[in-house]
Amino acid sequence: MGREFIDLFDHWAESYDNTVIGHDIEYKEVFEGYDRILDEVASKVNGTIIEFGVGTGNLSKKLLEKGNHVIGIEPSKEMRAIAKKKFPHLKIYDGDFLSLPEFNEKIDAIVSTWAFHHLTDDEKNLAIEKYSHLLEKGAKIVFADTVYENLEAKHAIIENAKRKGFKNLVDDLNREYYTFIEVLRTIFTNHRFEVQFKQLNKFVWLIDAVKQ
Ligand SMILES: C[S@@+](CC[C@H](N)C(=O)[O-])C[C@H]1O[C@@H](n2cnc3c(N)ncnc32)[C@H](O)[C@@H]1O
Repeated sequence: MGREFIDLFDHWAESYDNTVIGHDIEYKEVFEGYDRILDEVASKVNGTIIEFGVGTGNLSKKLLEKGNHVIGIEPSKEMRAIAKKKFPHLKIYDGDFLSLPEFNEKIDAIVSTWAFHHLTDDEKNLAIEKYSHLLEKGAKIVFADTVYENLEAKHAIIENAKRKGFKNLVDDLNREYYTFIEVLRTIFTNHRFEVQFKQLNKFVWLIDAVKQ
């Protein structure tokens, strides 16, 4: 489930690292502060960490450098191949937010960047319910992803992209399942997480949740 965008990522994999450093003008603001955002996510977790949507492994690298044990989950074959080439010791499974292997070890945190919006809101709810069973009290979920503050902000962002003639970005914003802060607050709270939000750039918010 939530795998409907995998072909797109198989095709994007080769040029993905150029996009995040601003080579694609349409996505420049989406990835603004990319490195700083990965650092912020990595600074909030430690121990044994599941990372969903590893992509080319840029967040994994930061987590590994801090001495964490990283279990990567990535559904795109091409993305997995690039991440493996860059970081041969990184463990990466073929899976997704809703299908992951069984682990015997205690999981301290779950992280993800620029990926949770590939799930519909119903699927997001199922995923957080699943993680609520997997994580013990005090364990964390830290995501950074495009989220809208409210409906007005959504309209303003899409109108702005249209005015600039950013067709690919507008199609993406209309196609994928970017949600609202209040939807996420309800989902996390219902599954016994205390959650905080912080805006990191025009598109991306930090979602910082602790299991109660
Ligand atoms: C925009 S990239 C982000 C990659 C990386 N996390 C980063 O911050 O650079 C989105 C990633 O999410 C992955 N993805 C797409 N659907 C997914 C799903 N249902 N579950 C987990 N990952 C998914 C894609 O294959 C891709 O690698």
